[in-house]
Amino acid sequence: MKINGKPMRTIWLAENGWAVEIIDQTSLPHVFETVTLKTVDDAAYAIKAMLVRGAPLIGATAAYGVCLALREDTSDEALEHANSLLAEQRPTAVNLRWALNEMVVAVRNLPREARVAAAYQRAQEICDADVETCRMIGVHGLEIIKQIAAKKPAGTPVNVLTHCNAGWLATVDWGTATSPIYQAHDAGIPIHVFVDETRPRNQGAALTAYELGSHGVPHTLVVDNAGGHLMQKGDVDLCIVGTDRTTATGDVANKIGTYLKALAAKDNNVPFYVALPHTTIDWSMTDGFAIPIEDRGPDEVLTMPGRLPNGTVVTVEIAAPGSPAANPAFDITPARLVTGFITERGVCPASADGLLSLYPEQGKTPAMT
Ligand code: MRU
Repeated sequence: MKINGKPMRTIWLAENGWAVEIIDQTSLPHVFETVTLKTVDDAAYAIKAMLVRGAPLIGATAAYGVCLALREDTSDEALEHANSLLAEQRPTAVNLRWALNEMVVAVRNLPREARVAAAYQRAQEICDADVETCRMIGVHGLEIIKQIAAKKPAGTPVNVLTHCNAGWLATVDWGTATSPIYQAHDAGIPIHVFVDETRPRNQGAALTAYELGSHGVPHTLVVDNAGGHLMQKGDVDLCIVGTDRTTATGDVANKIGTYLKALAAKDNNVPFYVALPHTTIDWSMTDGFAIPIEDRGPDEVLTMPGRLPNGTVVTVEIAAPGSPAANPAFDITPARLVTGFITERGVCPASADGLLSLYPEQGKTPAMT
């Protein structure tokens, strides 16, 4: 993706060849600034405080976090410490654990002097693979958008509703839910996106709208509760969302509020697609309600950041003083509400058989029947 005309990824190595640069997503859309991660603690903090967020980017950052840890200490103990420190920062997105496992496999049997180079190589591969995976999600999702466009009067935009940010900021590039949107836009298919603001952290308002605007994709920001109304009016042709963890049977954990959109989509016969890379599938889980749901504490609900007319960015309180607040960060959309999965290998039904048709190497376990 391009920022100010310059192609960028969301994570890259600094000029010194070992430190890790990221975009501080907590400053967007008001300020574009990058942050340099130099230690595993920096990487852990960036994940916890959501300087980086989105399941694939959390995984990529954790992979580089392991590199930074090994730079300082190549022992088994340091590897184990980095692994457990990074893993505990965000519980729902399974990409974090997937990436950490890849890193451990890449280095654990190597002599200590070979570990750092091998770790950096594997982290780079994880990032490069994520870019290609997300590009392919777009290739397959584009076909769905083309089919819908073909049924509409010529020149009428395909209206997509999306929730949270499953865009290039959530991955290394392209995004998952947004990749088909960018590819349709680039192919000249008229497309318009309804962007859920996504309280409490406003990833839709702050990040998805910023991304789409930077790429020139027509979009409209809506409050989280508007989706059902828009679908009843026939204003939404399809929903595409991302996911933080999808079970082997097709249940989907994604940003809080996704489930309500899926319910509204079902009630209004609006196709509801989930875009995901294989790294977001938890093949060990068959019940979405067993997925750990992150509780981010009350502050994000009770306050909101914003920019004053003088340009200063401040956080303001929005609730009656003393009101308690709950903040579950994700919810579960059961497979039965999902029209299909858009993956790097193609589109499939949201079911165990659907996923296995694309990933036969996983094999069916008794729990999946
Ligand atoms: O809490 P966040 O901002 O990390 O949540 C992000 C989402 O819910 C995304 O939809 C999901 O990670 C998929 S990103 C391609």
